[in-house]
Amino acid sequence: MENTKLERKIKNKRFVDLFAGLGGFHVGLSRLGHECVMASELDVDLRELYKKNFDLLPEGDIRLIDEKKVPNHDVLCAGFPCQPFSRAGKKKGAECPESGKLIDDIFRIVNEKSPNYILLENVPDILTIADGNFWGHVSQGLASLGYEMDYKIYTPQDFGIPQKRRRIFIVASRTGLDHFDWPKPSKTKGSLKAIFNKSSKYKKFLTSEKEVVLNKWQKFIENINEFSSLPILASEFGATYPFQKSVKTVKEMATYKGAFGQPLRNSKSWDDICDLLPKHARDGNGVVGHRVAEAIEYSRDLYNRHKKFLDQWKLDLIDLPASWVKFEWQGNRNNPDIWQHIIQFRASGIRVIKPDCAPSLIAMSTTQLPIYGPERRYITTREAAALQSLDELKNFPKSDSAIYKALGNAVNAHIVNKIAERLII
Ligand SMILES: C[S@@+](CC[C@H](N)C(=O)[O-])C[C@H]1O[C@@H](n2cnc3c(N)ncnc32)[C@H](O)[C@@H]1O
Repeated sequence: MENTKLERKIKNKRFVDLFAGLGGFHVGLSRLGHECVMASELDVDLRELYKKNFDLLPEGDIRLIDEKKVPNHDVLCAGFPCQPFSRAGKKKGAECPESGKLIDDIFRIVNEKSPNYILLENVPDILTIADGNFWGHVSQGLASLGYEMDYKIYTPQDFGIPQKRRRIFIVASRTGLDHFDWPKPSKTKGSLKAIFNKSSKYKKFLTSEKEVVLNKWQKFIENINEFSSLPILASEFGATYPFQKSVKTVKEMATYKGAFGQPLRNSKSWDDICDLLPKHARDGNGVVGHRVAEAIEYSRDLYNRHKKFLDQWKLDLIDLPASWVKFEWQGNRNNPDIWQHIIQFRASGIRVIKPDCAPSLIAMSTTQLPIYGPERRYITTREAAALQSLDELKNFPKSDSAIYKALGNAVNAHIVNKIAERLII
């Protein structure tokens, strides 16, 4: 009896959950029997939701929290906002006046409360943004507060969860990390089908417009039957404008062909020309960067080799959004059926990926939600929650878009759990 009590006492550590969001850290640590004594979250709706799920109302803006009033705790968890550090953000880092400096609020609390352990999560780009200065700030900050620190990049796939989502996990301990080693990546990558099989009735199906455009690309694949890692730019089929050297005059440019082979000959100004160029070539009046140039070369070459088919095929693409006429195949080459894959309508084009793993859930856009080809539908909120190991939560935000956004921001609770299990002794 005495022993059990003692064990429980040793195991139950007190933690704070900063930038709490949906509570990925909370779920991961409470599964180990640890107790959350304070959380902080800026978003009012997420605060109320946290209260419903965990019976604890988070404090608001961390910048306004008096560190002296933070309850004593053994573990500090923080998934500080990644917007300024992610690829989609501006990569400004510590000089970003808003979120980039929030790491200093973490340090302020650590300095006052000296928790034994710190567990942080972010995007791997924090290693390199601002020429590595931000990372220097994080690592030196922890060292000067007296912590030994280590970090590792994981994706849920390393833990048998079928989502590609590279994130950096940082652990720090005031008493050193001799006791700690990182969880070993699992050999099984997990099955997306298993998640989809649990699917609920709340399914959002593809619009007929998107189905039509995907069927169109399916025809393309069946007829062309060749795969490249380069994106295919359908608007280059028939185009002849120079894309590597700039043309000086409108008159000269008007002798070429623009998007889908439309003649530029009636153009009177650069604005007229640009209206007829593919979107990717407009900023530079035709001239593009190295990566786009490679894709253009490949696309024009394809066109020249399959002109007869493509001249017909391209006809009803001209009025479609630019991102629908760009196509990337990262799927199975021996099963070239789009509908047996995961599909994403990304700002950078349509991407088809193998059906065994979901792409990273992202917070900023619901239009890029992964589509499950075999059922011609988007992944459901419950499936997205399972990909973040947060399906046990009882309450989610009210609208689907708020759910996807919060899940796209969240830390995977299972990864947190597995790291914390080894870190917190
Ligand atoms: C990357 S998300 C972390 C998500 C969380 N780890 C989870 O599992 O859901 C960052 C969170 O920090 C919150 N946030 C941003 N600025 C904040 C601030 N100044 N004070 C407190 N929370 C803030 C955002 O609203 C967002 O929910």
